[in-house]
Amino acid sequence: TRIGVGHAHAKVILLGEHAVVYGAPAIGLPLPGLAVRATARHTEPGDSSTRIRFTTTGSEYALPANSGLAALVALFEEPGAGIAVRVLSDIPLGRGLGSSAACARATVGALDRLLDRPVVEPEVYSLVQTAERVAHGNPSGIDAATTGSPRPLMFSDGTSEALSVGMRGVFVVADSGNSGATRTAVDLVAERFRRNPILRTRFVQRIHALAHAARPVLTAGRADELGPILNENHSLLSELGLSTPKLDLLVRVAVDAGCVGAKLTGGGLGGCVLALAADPEHARRAAARLRTAGATTTWTVSAESFR
Ligand code: PMV
Repeated sequence: TRIGVGHAHAKVILLGEHAVVYGAPAIGLPLPGLAVRATARHTEPGDSSTRIRFTTTGSEYALPANSGLAALVALFEEPGAGIAVRVLSDIPLGRGLGSSAACARATVGALDRLLDRPVVEPEVYSLVQTAERVAHGNPSGIDAATTGSPRPLMFSDGTSEALSVGMRGVFVVADSGNSGATRTAVDLVAERFRRNPILRTRFVQRIHALAHAARPVLTAGRADELGPILNENHSLLSELGLSTPKLDLLVRVAVDAGCVGAKLTGGGLGGCVLALAADPEHARRAAARLRTAGATTTWTVSAESFR
């Protein structure tokens, strides 16, 4: 039997989460070490095998019929020709690492290849967004884009630009062990901005400035120039009520361990912290301290790997 295979990877947001929902630019970083592989095959008539099998970090999940992945598979099925999909993911759920977008992207790749359709952007991106809307309501699209990119992306209003990276340094991602609540967080921010529109204008303008300051640093600057930008982004998110004591603790531990800067990443209210170390030695030390302080897992990716 013919089998279609698709791939994608995790992501973190370097800066600009939440502001990106209001049109500010955000920068997404790929995490190629956390991968998703999907396979798709046609089922025989009367075949009762599970339509979508989803396994992540060792546990198998049954997906509800109204999930984003089920909606995607339905778009590719023809009457009398069912499709079975198997998704194997390294990405923990609900940590702001782009699990849902990466699984959708790998699934679209597998379905396109099964049906011998060309796998091309921006069609793939918009299909991933279709699934993301089922899962998240009104996603900006930064997850859908970054989970398929080998390079960091400057993302705004649905368009993305790949950034070349000349900066050295090592990004450290630490999982707080608590699920984030992106949808709750997005609603919380919407409510605060509705009551105080000036807050919204100031937040969005500040993130615009930070994103435009970060860009030349990533391209040709030094890690220590990016540190204060990440720290300020964390303060801005924290002022909006999106941090937690555990996230604040991990940010402090990373900076105390010698990282040049650190912030919560993704929707907030849980999930992960992203820190930047100037070199592998500082990254190793920070990762060890973060785990001692209660991070359940840490991952590192060097800026050089994006060249
Ligand atoms: O999926 P997460 O938790 O990385 O959060 C996405 C970032 C937000 O800006 C909060 C929402 C969005 O749709 O961009």
